[in-house]
Amino acid sequence: MQIVATITETRCIIQKARNEGRRIGFVPTMGALHEGHASLIRAARRETDFVVVSIFVNPTQFGPNEDYQRYPRTPEADWALCRREGVDLVFSPSVEEMYPPGFCTWVEVTRLQDVLCGRSRPGHFRGVATVVLKLLNIVQPDIAYFGQKDAQQARIIRQLVHDLNVPIEIRVCPIVREADGLALSSRNAYLSPQERQHATVLYRALQLAQELVNQGECDTSRIRQRMVDLITATPGATLDYAEIVDPETLQPVAQITGPALAALAVRLGSARLIDNQLLIPQTSSVPGVRNEAQSDI
Ligand code: PAJ
Repeated sequence: MQIVATITETRCIIQKARNEGRRIGFVPTMGALHEGHASLIRAARRETDFVVVSIFVNPTQFGPNEDYQRYPRTPEADWALCRREGVDLVFSPSVEEMYPPGFCTWVEVTRLQDVLCGRSRPGHFRGVATVVLKLLNIVQPDIAYFGQKDAQQARIIRQLVHDLNVPIEIRVCPIVREADGLALSSRNAYLSPQERQHATVLYRALQLAQELVNQGECDTSRIRQRMVDLITATPGATLDYAEIVDPETLQPVAQITGPALAALAVRLGSARLIDNQLLIPQTSSVPGVRNEAQSDI
């Protein structure tokens, strides 16, 4: 496995693999890698012949009062995970390599960037879209892998790739969870043992939403209220948002008539956690979509 910090060297190594007829798979990350990231790497391994992982804590997607400085950085453990998972190349640039003096071009996916997390994190998705397009241009993969954990991010990247004719396929992989349902996240490291216990409320609220849908409830304001009640009754938890939206437009839906995305952001201590679940009405059958509420976790 090669670990490279410059764009020139990365391009050169990937070009060689491409010339050998290998298909390039790409997993962009901010490091502090866990099983969620590993699942994306494994998907890339299965489908492509040369797997590139980028590790870059992207400053432009953090707000001025957010956790850029203290975001966990664990390079040795990350390299070990990548090695174990059979990654071919780790691209780990400096901030100066990605944003040299004079940098002034930004990518905005309008509308989709302004809702849900975009509302409480202004500028966040501009930073994400810009760095992801840069990374896609540097790596030029055949397939790039993202997690459904960040559903809005995945939706925005699909739109970006479509609108700007980026010639790659996007795969979105399922959310990897702890045994008690908490979605794996690098930010879970911020939780105290007690906050960690309370953090299952996000998953429990999403499960409750699916249960209500299973019982025939279609009114999203009632479902939403039940999720809000559960979250606000949890010690130390502050609701950022709880919404039920159209998975394509990310706009709120009033009635559940087809698959709808329940999306949550909750603050617990110094951590801001997000989670989501596609709510499937019992009458609608969506090929390939598994109803998690009806299965064991
Ligand atoms: P990061 O938070 O490191 O996540 C990298 C990728 O791993 C994202 O596509 C994310 O959705 C996925 N992921 C994280 N936790 C997951 C889980 N529990 N199950 C499945 N997938 C999971 O997302 C970013 O970095 C950045 O915004 C990035 C796209 C790299 C741009 O800077």
